[in-house]
This record gives sequence, C-alpha cells and structure tokens, in this order.
Amino acid sequence: MLSEIRPKIVSIIHSDAEVSLRLQQICDLLQESVPYYDWVGFYFKNGNKEELKLGPYAGAHTEHTIIPFGKGICGQVALSNENFVVPDVKAQDNYIACSIHVKAEIVVPLFVNGENIGQIDIDSNTPDPFTREDEEFLEFVNKEIAKIL
Ligand code: SME
Repeated sequence: MLSEIRPKIVSIIHSDAEVSLRLQQICDLLQESVPYYDWVGFYFKNGNKEELKLGPYAGAHTEHTIIPFGKGICGQVALSNENFVVPDVKAQDNYIACSIHVKAEIVVPLFVNGENIGQIDIDSNTPDPFTREDEEFLEFVNKEIAKIL
C-alpha cells in the first residue's frame, strides 16, 4: 500500500504549485490513502526560536500550533534528530494530547542539508499500527520534500 503512494508523492513534488499547497496535497493524500493515518501534519522550526510551528495538516483542528523544543513527542524529535514511534501514547509522560481518540503517533524529522528543520507528524486512532515500513516511507516523503525547501 505505502509503495503505491510513492509515485504520487513524486508527482506532487514535481508539480509547479506553491510549496505550501504541495505540502497540503501530501497531507491530504496520506490521510486519505492510509486507513490508520488519522491526522497528518508538518511542524517546522519557527525562525530562530527554539520552537516548532504548525504547517499544513489534514485531520482535526489542533490547538497545538506552537510546540517548544523538548515538549511532547514533536519537541523531543526537534532535539534528538531521530524518528520517534509511539505504539501507545498513554505510556508516554512527555506527550501532548491533541485528541482523546489518538492511540499512537509517529514523528519523522525532515533534514535539509543535514539540518533538522521540521518533521512530519502522524497520529493514529489505531493502537500500535506503525512498522519499520512506515518509518522508511516517511523518510522517503521527507527526502522528496527536502528537494523543494
Ligand atoms: N502529540 C504531539 C503534539 C502534536 S499533535 O499530535 C497534532 C506531541 O506530543 O508532540
């Protein structure tokens, strides 16, 4: 399933729409295509501040438009530069809840020229749905996006 989405990602990346629109299209595509991707969004480093700012997303509205580095799963990935797969959000102390329905989360950092400039964040209402395949797929998505940032 995920491998079938890769060419669609590449075609969005190569379109001439505004970057923010292409990121929105990627969020929409992922959220519509993968049954266990219930919320898909991007956070980016907010200028020179030690915080993340919400970018394009698909799914329920979230109040968490600004996340300080170190806070929540997203803020931890801003500092660790590593993928963070959370099979059960209830087992996490440093977690920012966006919806009571969310059971699991995956955050994969986005690097441009080796610098962690943001991340893709996916929430799932399904318990423990993410595998190594999701990590590799989302690393691919972020590498494609890095080409246009
Ligand atoms: N759960 C995230 C916050 C962002 S929402 O999932 C959209 C976290 O703990 O960082």
